[in-house]
Amino acid sequence: MKPPTEQSPAAGPRPPESTAPPAAEQFATPMWLVALTGLLCFWGAVYLDLNAGGFQALVFNRGDRPADVAARVPKSGTGDLVTHGRRIYGVYCAACHQPDGRGRPGQFPPLAGSEWVNAASPDRIIRVVLDGAAGPMTVRGQTFNNAMLLWRAQLSDEDIAAVLTFVRRNAEFHNTAGPVAPAQVKAIRDATQDRRANWTEAELLAVPVSE
Ligand code: HEC
Repeated sequence: MKPPTEQSPAAGPRPPESTAPPAAEQFATPMWLVALTGLLCFWGAVYLDLNAGGFQALVFNRGDRPADVAARVPKSGTGDLVTHGRRIYGVYCAACHQPDGRGRPGQFPPLAGSEWVNAASPDRIIRVVLDGAAGPMTVRGQTFNNAMLLWRAQLSDEDIAAVLTFVRRNAEFHNTAGPVAPAQVKAIRDATQDRRANWTEAELLAVPVSE
């Protein structure tokens, strides 16, 4: 006996034929789009292969060749000073002056953009770190009347030079002043060794800072 087929009259009357294409065909992605996507992916991979510098951190930024990057690393040990200074800052200064250097309004003055920090010479701020500061002090047009601790006993010449170099050269603080050498700190430490009081603004302003 023949198995019943669709044509077999046993299947009964067929449903009216639909004119719409079957669902799968209606939503199928056109072949040209698949090919174009594939081509773009391939082009992207080739582009990265040629231009991403092997994904090395030093050369990943466009236009940064290793020689350019090396030229931007500070010379003569300033890099080490900044690294050490960052650590000192986190331990001894950030609690008041804040990690971003902006201080706290009415409480702790900012180091970011401070005219004291960015003075041509660091002679005043070396004194501030050695023996602290107290009383009214104006920074960026705001007057603070508080007291800063003294670090003469806790921090070495290298520590103070490092933290002040970190603060003065800190691009995130928008500071652009020059580095501070341990010898500069030592000279001021020796010259002020009998000091037993925090600095006042008037005393600090009497110290010349233009070079
Ligand atoms: C206990 C909070 C405190 C700590 C910690 C502290 N400071 Fe200060 N700092 C102050 C205050 C308060 C003043 C303003 C003093 C005043 O009102 O006379 C000041 C002033 C300054 C100034 C001069 C004003 C300015 O904003 O530029 C500098 C520079 C400075 N501090 C740097 C430092 C550095 C560097 C450290 C870390 C070694 C540090 N301070 C740690 C509270 C602090």
